[in-house]
Amino acid sequence: MIRNKAALHKQRAEWRHARERVAVVLTMGNLHAGHLSLVRLAQQNAERVVVTLFVNPTQFGDGEDFEAYPRSLKRDTRCLEEAHADVLFIPEIETIYPFGIENATRVSVPGLTEIFCGSRQPGHFDGVTSVVMRLFSIVQPDVAVFGQKDYQQQLIIRRMADDLSLPLKIVTAPTVREADGLAMSSRNAYLSDEERQVAPALYQTLHDVGEKLQAGERNYDELEDRATQSLAESRFRPEYFAIRQAIDLKEPDLDCSVFVVLAAVRLGKARLIDNIVLGGNLNSNELDG
Ligand code: PAJ
Repeated sequence: MIRNKAALHKQRAEWRHARERVAVVLTMGNLHAGHLSLVRLAQQNAERVVVTLFVNPTQFGDGEDFEAYPRSLKRDTRCLEEAHADVLFIPEIETIYPFGIENATRVSVPGLTEIFCGSRQPGHFDGVTSVVMRLFSIVQPDVAVFGQKDYQQQLIIRRMADDLSLPLKIVTAPTVREADGLAMSSRNAYLSDEERQVAPALYQTLHDVGEKLQAGERNYDELEDRATQSLAESRFRPEYFAIRQAIDLKEPDLDCSVFVVLAAVRLGKARLIDNIVLGGNLNSNELDG
């Protein structure tokens, strides 16, 4: 466990000297099997794995309580030991924002950050890209692993890395699900027993729309409307449900071959997001055109 920048840099220098590559998994803690699958994928992509744990205040909106975000350091540490991660980096807020949050340099990706989750939580993705950039600068990874679960987030980070020529490879890990299909998330803990029973219908609806797309249906508006309606009928309060090009989240062209179907809903106190990708692999170059 490393808490300060100097100690991390010393470790980083030793690994560089030994010509060992470093993969990073960035998290806000409260780890579950989804996070741990990222650690395993990181281990397949580099000799050393650093996991960062930082609950980043600048990506929380007014509606979501930064203070109430679940914290479970003891359990997280034990999980990472069992997973054989090399370093758990837990920076203090002053390490991440040495000049204070108000004066912090920001990184912002226009366009992609303003739609879907970005339009519901203005400023959220600027908080994410800015802290990811800071953590990249401190850890200096060769590889960074993100979850497909947060589709828009991984796409924005890929764009940022590409646009700024960051010298690292981004890898996207498949979504880890509960046995009934619900995507794992810390926020599932906010569901009542009854809501938890209903929750898998989100993935089921994505899956059904995916099958229709694969069968050749191309009336996107109608597919989206029917899915939104069926979610609303089973207690969800849909925020968006959209069929888009996986590469840029734009409305599909006639020749689009790789789709993402993505959705966000409210269910009781929880906000759930999920997505599926059809026709391509996020880590191959096919998506880059
Ligand atoms: P957090 O929500 O802790 O997620 C950390 C990483 O785990 C993200 O890349 C996320 O996509 C991935 N993840 C979450 N649930 C998953 C699941 N069920 N299957 C696979 N991967 C999953 O995302 C953040 O933190 C923050 O925004 C962060 C990138 C750390 C910046 O603060």
